[in-house]
Amino acid sequence: MSEPVTRPGRGSRREFLGGGATASLAAGLMVHSSHAAGGETRELRLGIVGCGGRGTGAVDDSLAVNEHVRLVAAADLYDKKCDALRQALQGRYQARVAVDDARLHGGLDGYRRVLDDPEVDVVLLTTSPGFRPRMLLEAVEAGKHVFAEKPVCVDPAGYRVCLQAHDQAVAKGLAIVTGTQYRRQTNYVGAVEQIRRGAIGEIVSGTSRYCAGGIWYRPRREGMSDVEYQLSNWMHFIWLSGDQICEQAVHNLDTVNWVMGENPVSAFGSGGRFTRPEDSEMWDNVAINYEYPGGRIISFMCRQVPGAAGDNGTVIHGTTGTCFIAAMDGGSRIVDRQGKEVWRMDGSISAAYRQEHKDLVNSIRAGKPIVELKQTADSSLVSVLGRVAAYTGQKVTFGFLAGESKLDLFPKELAWDGSLPAPTFAVPGRTKLV
Ligand SMILES: NC(=O)c1ccc[n+]([C@@H]2O[C@H](COP(=O)([O-])OP(=O)(O)OC[C@H]3O[C@@H](n4cnc5c(N)ncnc54)[C@H](O)[C@@H]3O)[C@@H](O)[C@H]2O)c1
Repeated sequence: MSEPVTRPGRGSRREFLGGGATASLAAGLMVHSSHAAGGETRELRLGIVGCGGRGTGAVDDSLAVNEHVRLVAAADLYDKKCDALRQALQGRYQARVAVDDARLHGGLDGYRRVLDDPEVDVVLLTTSPGFRPRMLLEAVEAGKHVFAEKPVCVDPAGYRVCLQAHDQAVAKGLAIVTGTQYRRQTNYVGAVEQIRRGAIGEIVSGTSRYCAGGIWYRPRREGMSDVEYQLSNWMHFIWLSGDQICEQAVHNLDTVNWVMGENPVSAFGSGGRFTRPEDSEMWDNVAINYEYPGGRIISFMCRQVPGAAGDNGTVIHGTTGTCFIAAMDGGSRIVDRQGKEVWRMDGSISAAYRQEHKDLVNSIRAGKPIVELKQTADSSLVSVLGRVAAYTGQKVTFGFLAGESKLDLFPKELAWDGSLPAPTFAVPGRTKLV
């Protein structure tokens, strides 16, 4: 992580939830301008919030596939990261990366300046996941179209904020496309079409795995407050990442939900922690049985253990065949009960990453904005459901989490120099279901 060039600003939860009134005024204007000038060539101006690896990739993807799109603003905790993104992309896109210094915003409140900027039409939200629900809602209140990386929430409180943002976006004619790229990958789309057409008969059960090696860890540097440290090393703190089942394996659970066409009824599972650094709140693995309506069980597991075997994909068993959907560029195939291959399709994940941005921009220009937040909020909550079931050691229902759970992980106060409770990790049987 880079050092801050200027002192990052302070922010509090209030700031994340505030700004609605002024923003709503802007919303009316933005919606008007979105619809006033339609057509293929209408210029759209992007603002990026979260200038890390995926933020840079998302802007790159959008500029690569969309004409008449420019990047005009950038926010990150660190000014230096905004500048690094600008420099990384300027070489390739020249004048289409048109971010002057006054539109590089550092600090915890920098995102607000992107949302308040009338020059910005579309915001790309690519910070750590914990911030996503509030930023999404505030972006919609500010009248912006949104691209939001996955997962879109890491707890039930965030889920409900996402549902609010979804409904407001629909009401205002604003687009929200999410970073669940497999929904746009040819072999995934093809497999789901085949299943819908009955190529494997009735769905009986399934297996989904996201097993990989270790993940990065960013050690605490001298002088870092608790807040700066956790924001920097965000993967390892559940309020920010949701643990690997949310941060990474949400892709698989989103695929499962898509195939099944609905949310699971409940989850029961287990897991543990044995290789993580001492202050990491993450578990190494979880194995969850999700029960979908009709008593259909999807066995899911995810694991991040250095040196252990990787496996990433989803297998759906039907009454007449089995569909294998491999992640990344692995392709999909269907075999019949005798094991004979009856269908196959390839797919490219990099093409899928770009398609998200093509679809977003096309939908805005056509005046038919895609709003897909609810579906991604659902699959993000399915990830939370698995985590909560494993952490507590209880059978937990989707309905409980969506409607009754009081779990709200976001700190009540968040100041750059602030303290946070000491990291802790869940122990089944002791960790309470709330
Ligand atoms: N769809 C995919 O396949 C895919 C792949 C990689 C990452 N992602 C997702 O993208 C997101 C970002 O991941 P990454 O790998 O780019 O992480 P990263 O750590 O490289 O980047 C995150 C950036 O956000 C900044 N940031 C954090 N909090 C902020 C705040 N409140 N305001 C402004 N900036 C803030 C950080 O300083 C950092 O530069 C995560 O949600 C991750 O799950 C998705």
